[in-house]
Amino acid sequence: MIDKDASQSLYEVTGDLRNYLTYMKRLGFEGLSLSSDSLKILDQWDGRTVVETLDMIKEDLGDCRRCKLYNGRKHIVFGAGDPQAQLVLVGEGPGYEEDIQGVPFVGRAGQLLTKILEAIKLTRDDVYICNIIKCRPPKNRNPERDEIASCLPFVQRQIRAIRPKFICALGTFAAQTLLQTKTPISRLRGEFHPYEDILLLPTYHPAYLLRNPNKKRDVWEDVQKLQVAYEKV
Ligand code: URA
Repeated sequence: MIDKDASQSLYEVTGDLRNYLTYMKRLGFEGLSLSSDSLKILDQWDGRTVVETLDMIKEDLGDCRRCKLYNGRKHIVFGAGDPQAQLVLVGEGPGYEEDIQGVPFVGRAGQLLTKILEAIKLTRDDVYICNIIKCRPPKNRNPERDEIASCLPFVQRQIRAIRPKFICALGTFAAQTLLQTKTPISRLRGEFHPYEDILLLPTYHPAYLLRNPNKKRDVWEDVQKLQVAYEKV
């Protein structure tokens, strides 16, 4: 019988190992043989021991200094909403307002996201909202490889802890990072893609919609598909 602390660290090690190896493979590092059987074995190990909670993950994140983004941040933006949500929305990373408040999607793009949710009869409290990157990059530049490599395991663990039925990936960066693809968002959006045993629907990022209002119809169509699937659960 493994005690709780030991099995927890086993869970963390196998989960992190899986995520890290998969990510390195995606970046093009050679010499990794990640057969689907090996990945399944790692999944079984962690799945059976301890189910991590969001609080445990937040505690592990702590006052994170795993990458250089801690330098300029005011707050780590971990995530917000229902820890048992059936729908998790994943964005790119905190902007100015989110960094100040420590809460995801509270700026202009966030206000639009709230309206998009309302359009499909959901509130922010019904869902869980987080980002791939937990700290604001300087001047909102794109996150760099090492920053993604440090942060990605945390959103993956958050998703595993919540065990939602659906993920909505907001924008290119979230969709491509979670699906480990370089396919453009214009081709990924509007269809469900498998993410572990969850259905992941990519759509355009609300900040992109603010700049390109003509894409609102596409997002409306995408989220209606999500609503239909969500209401069947
Ligand atoms: N854009 C994002 O991707 N995430 C936020 O939290 C805010 C803006």
